[in-house]
Amino acid sequence: MMIIDIEKASTLLLQNEIIAIPTETVYGLAGRATETTAVAKIYELKKRPHFNPLIVHVSSIDDIHSFAIIDSNKKKHINYFWSQNKSLTVVLPLKEGHSISPLVTAGLNTIAIRIPHHPVAIEVINRTGPLAAPSANIANRLSPTCANHVLESFKDNPPYVVDGGACTVGLESTIIDYTNDIPILLRPGGLSIEELEEYFGKKIEKRKSDQAISAPGQLKVHYSPGCPVILNSSTIKHGEILLGFGPDSPSHAALNLSESGNLVEAASNLFEYLSILSKKNPSAIVIMPIPNFGLGLAINDRLERAASAIKL
Ligand code: TXA
Ligand code: MG
Repeated sequence: MMIIDIEKASTLLLQNEIIAIPTETVYGLAGRATETTAVAKIYELKKRPHFNPLIVHVSSIDDIHSFAIIDSNKKKHINYFWSQNKSLTVVLPLKEGHSISPLVTAGLNTIAIRIPHHPVAIEVINRTGPLAAPSANIANRLSPTCANHVLESFKDNPPYVVDGGACTVGLESTIIDYTNDIPILLRPGGLSIEELEEYFGKKIEKRKSDQAISAPGQLKVHYSPGCPVILNSSTIKHGEILLGFGPDSPSHAALNLSESGNLVEAASNLFEYLSILSKKNPSAIVIMPIPNFGLGLAINDRLERAASAIKL
């Protein structure tokens, strides 16, 4: 049986497994936000073709201080909605020294956060700490609003689910970009724009989150490791540095994404290793071929963006 209780859910999460939990909007596929291995499993099970950043779920507004930058004014505004159980996600600047996995933010310097207003989700988070959770469905399918939807969506390979009944909102949270002083709407959702506008006393400008993230200008800043990236090669010229993959990685590789060729492990090391290597100021980072299936799709998607960013 794939239905589990809160106790078992917390135990699995603390072992870096992923499980589905109810929230007031939709069921989420959750893993600990600080654990890259857990977050990599989310992308793998969802079959996401690229590393879209995920929302971090906390149980109290005070939990966000360890990883997000927020002043007392913004905190007051966000608390207004969260304390009334509104389905609002806020994007804030990441704080230096945070311990959130770079797979959660997909290498961005901002982070999306919300409180899920469901007693089961809150109880689980109180036991495990912040959870990263996209909707608990295979990529491009309908979002699940009851435990059965989750099981149906993942037919052959369903995750464990805590059954918290039907979601009351049934639609994903509303996302605002609050990195500057004026909030901008990134995704309409469970909290209406009218409610936001009424509270803030002005019109809220709209921007599509996907455009914001994938616009070339943003890519250049956020996804480039800061030096040229050369794909599908294991030969390096003077000044270049090799990022290996798999058991056939040559001895001159500076790091290996996964010695055994495991794509989940490779995904979990990707952002960190690119960051380590770029700090050595190479003339280019050369990366061995990564198989183009499973999480390899998402890894290659990100690497191709990194490789083209510098050419823009
Ligand atoms: O209601 C919800 O929000 C559900 C439940 C499970 O909490 N979660 C959800 O997650 O809808 P997901 O992964 O399907 O959607 C997350 C959205 C993505 O569209 C992503 O682009 C955006 O949040 N996002 C995440 N981090 C961001 C960031 N740093 N900047 C801009 N957008 C971000
Ligand atoms: Mg979704």
